[in-house]
Amino acid sequence: MASITDRSGFVPPPYPYDRLDRFKPLAERHDGGLVDFSIGTPIDPPPDAVIAALGSSGAERGYPPSIGSLDLRTALQRWIGRRFDVVVPEAQIGVCIGTKEFVGTLPQWLRLRRPDRDTVLFPAVSYPTYEMGAILAGCRPVPVPPAADGSLDLDAIDPADADRGLALWVNSPSNPTGALDDLGEAAAWGRSHDVPVFSDECYVEFTWNGPGRTILEHGLEGVVAVHSLSKRSNLAGVRVGFYAGDAELVHYLQEVRKHVGMMVPGPAQAAGIAALDDDTHVAIQRERYLRRLERVADVLGRWSGSEIRLPDGGFYLWFDAGDGWAFTERLAAEGGALVSPGDFYGAGGAQFVRVAVVQPDQRIELVAARLGLG
Ligand SMILES: Cc1ncc(COP(=O)(O)O)c(C=O)c1O
Repeated sequence: MASITDRSGFVPPPYPYDRLDRFKPLAERHDGGLVDFSIGTPIDPPPDAVIAALGSSGAERGYPPSIGSLDLRTALQRWIGRRFDVVVPEAQIGVCIGTKEFVGTLPQWLRLRRPDRDTVLFPAVSYPTYEMGAILAGCRPVPVPPAADGSLDLDAIDPADADRGLALWVNSPSNPTGALDDLGEAAAWGRSHDVPVFSDECYVEFTWNGPGRTILEHGLEGVVAVHSLSKRSNLAGVRVGFYAGDAELVHYLQEVRKHVGMMVPGPAQAAGIAALDDDTHVAIQRERYLRRLERVADVLGRWSGSEIRLPDGGFYLWFDAGDGWAFTERLAAEGGALVSPGDFYGAGGAQFVRVAVVQPDQRIELVAARLGLG
């Protein structure tokens, strides 16, 4: 009989960012310390009204509704209507505790619903939690390669994998590549193969060549859009996300998530309403990110000789550096700055690095000065 010390089962792999720890002392040696461009964690302030709502909701005592308060779901409905001109009944919207937990747990709920299927399809170079959610559910993670323009090459999906498909993830704008996908094509592919399409749209407010798009513009049937206030409103610490779309899928997820106790705290739900009803702070944030993207691309491009294009969306620079780990080490040593080697996002990214422009201007200028480009 196995003992409680038996370790032959699942061992979590090292968390990607923990693998960067060995470079931190190199960067910390610089006057002014490490400048961290590795994790996409917002640093700018949320609006005052959001902070005020957190402290004045009176929602601390009772349990919050797992699916989200009616006030929050109607605020989400208003935002979807205003932002995308799409009408979603509030019954077809549910909230999550930020979207990472939603992404990481979704496959186990889908597997229970469709025990005859076991495969999660996701972009080959992408946010690692799509793959990890499949692994944690004992499912098969199957990467979908990119087409030449960076969108998903849906024609490359093996029909045998599609037949076993529990879900197809799309992510537009993409973390890390910044590419935009054809969400209409993804919705049509899902419907024709009877595979639900989950569209992670958490960077939708940050597009640089035209408005951000939602898969919901192509009808709600068979699709679920996933959104977060972490990036839109600099609220990653408050944990408010949501999912919206297909009536049956959303209802199923609302119900199963109630049983697990997935609840966004009441004060956070109140803060979410205040954030959603305000667009001014989003416009200010867009300006900040665009300015930083331009400046960091200029500095790192001149320093390294890499060709660094601005992304179509998101707040990451993603470029071919020859060898992602070697570039990361050299930049830590010479510029005191930390970035993410591209293999964090899939083996296809090994030559690349990702730079999250989540540092204030004066920290960016500090790196520029260290690299002789101040
Ligand atoms: C593509 C993508 N999806 C989801 C998330 C999760 O964000 P949160 O859990 O804060 O909503 C992130 C965070 O970086 C992300 O890049």
